[in-house]
Amino acid sequence: MNTSETALPKKFRVHHLAQAKEQGRKLTMLTAYDSITARIFDAAGIDMLLVGDSMGDNVLGHPNTIPVTLDEMIPLARAVARNAPHSLVVVDLPFGSYEDTVEHAFASAVRVLKETGAHAVKIEGGQRITDQVRLLTQSGIPVVGHLGFTPQSENVFGGKRVQGRGEAAANQLLDDATALQEAGAVAVVLEMVPAPLAAAVTEQLRIPTIGIGAGINCDGQVLVWTDMAGMGDWSPRFARRFAEIGAALQEAAQDYATAVRDGSFPAPEHSYDE
Ligand code: KIV
Repeated sequence: MNTSETALPKKFRVHHLAQAKEQGRKLTMLTAYDSITARIFDAAGIDMLLVGDSMGDNVLGHPNTIPVTLDEMIPLARAVARNAPHSLVVVDLPFGSYEDTVEHAFASAVRVLKETGAHAVKIEGGQRITDQVRLLTQSGIPVVGHLGFTPQSENVFGGKRVQGRGEAAANQLLDDATALQEAGAVAVVLEMVPAPLAAAVTEQLRIPTIGIGAGINCDGQVLVWTDMAGMGDWSPRFARRFAEIGAALQEAAQDYATAVRDGSFPAPEHSYDE
């Protein structure tokens, strides 16, 4: 039995975030978009499941996250939350559902918590959305921030590009991170940020940083599960492929098709006599 102070909590909840940072225990987060992956990752002891708007690319077949709507996110988030008894479930507020007013952000976040059973929302941006973070936090809705390459602003960045390079951009990112913390964010995702800058943000904040393409010194890591599991032909440079599930699944489907065509499936044991 692990009796150390850093033993995994049975149910990972928001208050464990600060605790993990204090104890120096690395946080784990993976995206999940359905009940099957939610069950598997929850059983694997992943601290946080992110129902990311990356479901736009990974489930709906869009080129990016921009077309995703709240109505599309909600059923997926519900499926994940119902099937993850131990992990903290965080849901992205999609593009267009929170940026313009605090009222819009509040209405969207309330829908997520009421209709899905998730525990927290994630929104992209720094100082420009701190009013939203403050109101949600004061209303009992935990918020995870997201800085660096924020996919919903891909059109402003001109593609999927590393952010925070150069002194001015680095200082801006440090200020944005502090602003999110002071507004009440419970953690901040840092995406595609130079590792030394991510380390400086991590050092500066009391709340944990969760890196994706942001180096080893973040308080935790997040990956899109399809990248982590090797589902497609390609994964981004920052994502290690911990398995080759895509190739294994294709082989299984080919074996199935061959067995149906050659008459070896279904066998007697797969059939009912009466
Ligand atoms: O939507 C998503 O998957 C994300 C991760 C890249 C952090 O926001």
